[in-house]
Amino acid sequence: MWIAHRYLILFGLIATVSSVPLENTIEESSARIVNGFAVDISEVPYQAALRRRAVSGWAHMCGAVIITVRAVLTAAHCGNLYVTEPSSLRLVVGTSYRLSGGSTYDINRIHVHEAYSATTLENDIAVFITSKKISFSKNVQSVHFAPPNHNLQTGAEALVSGFGTTSYEGSASSVLLAAHVKIVEQTACARAYLRIATITSSMLCANATQPARDACQGDSGGPLVSNNLLVGVVSWGEGCAELSYPGVYTRVSSYYSWIHDKLATTWD
Ligand SMILES: *[C@@H]1O[C@H](CO)[C@@H](O)[C@H](O)[C@H]1NC(C)=O
Repeated sequence: MWIAHRYLILFGLIATVSSVPLENTIEESSARIVNGFAVDISEVPYQAALRRRAVSGWAHMCGAVIITVRAVLTAAHCGNLYVTEPSSLRLVVGTSYRLSGGSTYDINRIHVHEAYSATTLENDIAVFITSKKISFSKNVQSVHFAPPNHNLQTGAEALVSGFGTTSYEGSASSVLLAAHVKIVEQTACARAYLRIATITSSMLCANATQPARDACQGDSGGPLVSNNLLVGVVSWGEGCAELSYPGVYTRVSSYYSWIHDKLATTWD
């Protein structure tokens, strides 16, 4: 069970915080793409990656999404341990490779949603402000995020992308992967997770079969884009690409004004 597993990892992490190495902790607790296809960054130029300072250098931690020249959206669970030390993290944009290429930016400020719960995974959203303006190009662009009244239809096609693992507890992909998935009806998703977790109206679910496609570990915080609008941020799931368990995303349209409030702090 992913949630139980996740708890073990988070528990392990808390236990090691005081004793130094943070390696292979967050990374494993975050969700990568299963049965995806390699994409060039120019096809998803809003895709960014968050790396954390590790003993051996900078390790991939999470995905993120460029929303302005100074801000990215990501998952709260990617930022909540770093709010007071944003210098332990870096943002990388404009690369199709997990650990090379692109441009690197320091993080100035981390806004984790005030009501984020590590237990229920509600409000799993965060805004990171970079220290400098992100330089846009063919490979680096922002994406519009869904407005509050956005009506996302069941069955709508969406694209999820990231540098995560290609199977649950599997190995990481060295290149950027993407997968087409479809939005799952809300009550069907709630039913699928009935015994495991509550699917709130601020979450959305997506899945695909033949072959089963999904986000997985290391994809957390990354984009789910439908009709050129950012509709979801990779949040969690039971395993990865499991037939009866869709991938769960933070529903971006539920946080429109929250995001705007945080963007207002950009030039503080
Ligand atoms: C997606 O998930 C829902 C809810 O579990 C399920 O009813 C549906 O058959 C799944 N669809 C695909 C294509 O996997």
